[in-house]
Amino acid sequence: MIRLFEGAALAEAYALSRPHTPAKIAEISMAYINKRSQPAANGKYKLMVDIGCGSGQSTEIFGKYFDKILGIDPSSEQILAARKQTKQQNIVFQEGTGENIPIESETVDLVACGQSAHWFNFAKFFKECNRVLKPDGCLVIHGYDLPKIYPIRPSDSTCRKDQAATAQRLIRSMYDTCTFHPRRKHIDNHYSQIYDFIKSTHKTRNDSVKIKKQGNLRDFVQYITTWSGYRSYMTTKQEELSELHGKNNVTDTMIADVDILAKFVKKIQAEWKIEDFELQSIPLDIIFDCFVILSERPLPDSVE
Ligand SMILES: C[S@@+](CC[C@H](N)C(=O)[O-])C[C@H]1O[C@@H](n2cnc3c(N)ncnc32)[C@H](O)[C@@H]1O
Repeated sequence: MIRLFEGAALAEAYALSRPHTPAKIAEISMAYINKRSQPAANGKYKLMVDIGCGSGQSTEIFGKYFDKILGIDPSSEQILAARKQTKQQNIVFQEGTGENIPIESETVDLVACGQSAHWFNFAKFFKECNRVLKPDGCLVIHGYDLPKIYPIRPSDSTCRKDQAATAQRLIRSMYDTCTFHPRRKHIDNHYSQIYDFIKSTHKTRNDSVKIKKQGNLRDFVQYITTWSGYRSYMTTKQEELSELHGKNNVTDTMIADVDILAKFVKKIQAEWKIEDFELQSIPLDIIFDCFVILSERPLPDSVE
């Protein structure tokens, strides 16, 4: 299993800065499941499982549609953070994996995975879905791509557009320098290969949902620190960074030569022509494009 999401500090950063799945994705999923089965007399379905739930960002939006939701994740720290964050009584969290779902056979109405399915062994995961899903149960796999940032000031729309385009170029360049796991390609292609694996004629996808967050440049910087590719890249730079921190008169430029995130901030500062700013005083719209794949049972037992 690929383990890139361990550690209490990361779980905390995740809880603080990863975007939450928009309610629209639950609505799209419930519209799909409603065409195949009916909820119980209380208007709710019995059981959903959110696989790779992290610190619970993708779980809560489903709370009102199910009697019970189980969020599972292999990282014990993410599970602790999810328990801390989540207020709804019908949502519980437990350690587990997509390849070995800790649930009885044919009991689940909906298996959901938010920004996590690309980490699974697909054949084993689909096999587990076939086991745990009720015969009319469904699978929703959703994710989001690299964000775009738009400065809220200035209000002049041409200037805002130009600044957003510059930021996009800089984000892309930072992303390309990061060392992401090869499976990240599934996010780059909006899960199109995973969609092709699924053979059901009733499968469908929706690429219209966006996550819109208002925040500031500090929030954005904190979000980048949760990128697995940024963290992997920076582990190769630890020695250089500690050497720098042991020296006197270290400048921002010297740090930016080592840390690609510091470099990104410096470049944005120069390109957006903002001097001496505090990161939290630069308000931003942060926008992510989402993609959603839906299927009914059975899922394929091989993925060639
Ligand atoms: C990017 S996070 C997604 C968290 C959350 N669902 C969200 O929407 O932001 C990916 C999560 O998948 C989990 N994960 C990785 N491999 C997994 C596996 N084989 N089975 C279940 N979860 C896994 C990681 O521990 C991590 O918490």
